[in-house]
Amino acid sequence: MKQSLIKFCLVFAAVMLLAVPQVSQAKELKGDLEIFSWWAGDEGPALQALIGIYKGQNPKVKVIDATVTGGSGVNAKAVLKTRMLGGEPPDSFQVHAGQELIGTWVKADRMEDLTFLFKEQGWMDAFPKGLVKLIGTDKGIWSVPVNIHRSNVMWYIPANLKKWGVEAPKSWNDFLKIAPKLQKQGIVPLALAQNWTANHLWESVALASLGADNWEALWSGKLKFNSPEVIKAWELFGKVLQYTNKDAASLSWQQATDMVIDGRAAFNIMGDWAAGYMVTTKKMAPGKDFGWAASPDTAGEFMFLADSFGLPKGAPHRDNAIAWLKVLGSKEGSDTFNPLKGSISARKDTDLSKYNGYLQSAAKDFGKDRVVASLAHGAAANETFMGGFAQVMEMFLKTKNAKATAMACQQLADKAKIGK
Ligand code: GAL
Repeated sequence: MKQSLIKFCLVFAAVMLLAVPQVSQAKELKGDLEIFSWWAGDEGPALQALIGIYKGQNPKVKVIDATVTGGSGVNAKAVLKTRMLGGEPPDSFQVHAGQELIGTWVKADRMEDLTFLFKEQGWMDAFPKGLVKLIGTDKGIWSVPVNIHRSNVMWYIPANLKKWGVEAPKSWNDFLKIAPKLQKQGIVPLALAQNWTANHLWESVALASLGADNWEALWSGKLKFNSPEVIKAWELFGKVLQYTNKDAASLSWQQATDMVIDGRAAFNIMGDWAAGYMVTTKKMAPGKDFGWAASPDTAGEFMFLADSFGLPKGAPHRDNAIAWLKVLGSKEGSDTFNPLKGSISARKDTDLSKYNGYLQSAAKDFGKDRVVASLAHGAAANETFMGGFAQVMEMFLKTKNAKATAMACQQLADKAKIGK
């Protein structure tokens, strides 16, 4: 009798143990999930695809897609700041991997450490070590990366270049030679948009002029921003700017890409979200309808940035947000999102057959090129520097004074404690 009771208890306990995971798996998530990003309108399709996966897995959750338009997050970051400081964080928000998050909300102790999720989901091995390092500190891992974008890309329409009798320039010297030829035909040599896209162009020109070693030396504090090398980079930037459109300040990055697509401009230097725009929104075929090259003098260098999402402390729907982060970090999520977005997967086990010709070439370059961090998109420097750099850029756009701008940059670097 006693023995059969013990046996019964053991069997019961075993059944209960088996039942536990099933019960927790069956737990259905409900309520809201507010996702905050700047992927609105034309930038939205890839995010929508991720939301589609999430809804399939969590049909009872109401997803609030809170977007604030404005390339590179120029407007979204300001709104996020108000909400974070006001104690009203969204459940999860977009942020660039690197200093943009670490130097702000991590430093202010407003983020949850996601190490537990990385371990549970096997992400410590799924993502490259260097990337995990970039999104982490000695106190934790702070966001889930969804992609790898390339900043230093020059876009053009092959048929137009043929018509105008020019080729994609391999160096800025080449560009400066062909630009007047294009102007004579009434073509804007290089399409530019609002302020942040000038920062974007600057980082490609500066990388070209300084080289990768000196670019990195800037961020480690070993090379001063007012050194002759950097002044030279500003001078080259000034020459390049002479061949951009006068209405740049009033255009979005998509409008600058449109100038190239419509044949009003020959080239545009933009991150490869422009490939996402041309393929996903404009239905253009890479290699045929549009062409690309590393921005002049940067072949063999891959200036990278990554979008990621974090979990703020006090997220109103924490469980729903964790389920969202799981979708973002998954292979399925990544290989659904990136082909639409114009980026490559941040995971090591990506299924390249799902990616178009441009993205396959980007993946190849990422594997063999020298990888350096983007300033304009949060990987290289903190927000103090970034915010101040927008003003420094305004000053240069008005004065074209390379020396004064370089001095102002060094003052800013001191204030932002770059390399300290
Ligand atoms: C970048 C972001 C990209 C894209 C781009 C234009 O900062 O990383 O994903 O959104 O801005 O808005």
